[in-house]
Amino acid sequence: MWAMIATWRMALEGITAGGEMLEHGAAAGEALEKAICDIEDFPYYKSVGYGGLPNEEMEVELDAAYMDGNTFDIGAVAAIKDFANPIKVAKRLSAESVNCMLVSEGAEKFAHKEGFERKNMLSDRAKIHYRKRVKETAQELRPYIGHDTVGVVALDQHGKMVVGTSTSGLFMKKKGRVGDSPISGSGFYADSTVGGASATGLGEDLMKGCISYEIVRLMKEGHHPQAACEIAVNNLDAELKKRRGKAGDLSVVAMNNKGEYGVATNIEGFSFAVCREGETPAVYLVKNVDGKCIHELASEEWLNNYMQTRMAPLSE
Ligand code: GLY
Repeated sequence: MWAMIATWRMALEGITAGGEMLEHGAAAGEALEKAICDIEDFPYYKSVGYGGLPNEEMEVELDAAYMDGNTFDIGAVAAIKDFANPIKVAKRLSAESVNCMLVSEGAEKFAHKEGFERKNMLSDRAKIHYRKRVKETAQELRPYIGHDTVGVVALDQHGKMVVGTSTSGLFMKKKGRVGDSPISGSGFYADSTVGGASATGLGEDLMKGCISYEIVRLMKEGHHPQAACEIAVNNLDAELKKRRGKAGDLSVVAMNNKGEYGVATNIEGFSFAVCREGETPAVYLVKNVDGKCIHELASEEWLNNYMQTRMAPLSE
């Protein structure tokens, strides 16, 4: 059995390519790297890789992480600039026993020494979005809270599980701000003897519940991935509302080592992509109805509209 699940519709083409690799016996880590690189390279996604929206100083600072569910090796980069594929750097760092999470100039120095591809990640479309936002907000720049990180969980034919994330973080964030995506247990976690999970949404709140670790812990206790995702999201949402009066966006995907999966969200409009041995890769939309998260296949119309809106011409 092989399988792959990822946050958001944007992952469909990436996990389709990764799924083909898994079908032909590739290792989970190789398939996951391919899936996330495809998303990082696609210029029309505004929250991952090239085309990601910048911080308040108009710089694209990227976060990414990789975890091997067999060995618990973890590699992560945070606030890295000017490298095409942060996931590749994170995966390479996971081979290190120390210095495996690097930030900013340290991450860039490492990536340079290791020969990773340099690229100015600020696209013309991202510059237009930035200028529009500056005009809209006049003097007061605030981070834009809505956000789509890509998080992928993969299971290969040898039963190995890995997880990876990649994001440009919040639009208009402070320089140096780091979200949940490169933080173990928050943005991602994988244990091949159990399963893996990844999160997307407001990093500041996702980190308050170490939500990806919590989902894997719940699966280890015997919960199906769907129940584990719902318990983790509903509990964190309720705790945040009780203690702080509000909860940010919390959305998660998870898969166990049998290829069974689960998803949960506390927002409208969360989508995910999944491909499994013997099934056609597909996108689903998720709704939280009184704590139960149900998902339905995205219609052709929804899929077409998604791409049209992402790729529509922009004017200043
Ligand atoms: N979840 C991504 C971020 O908050 O940066």
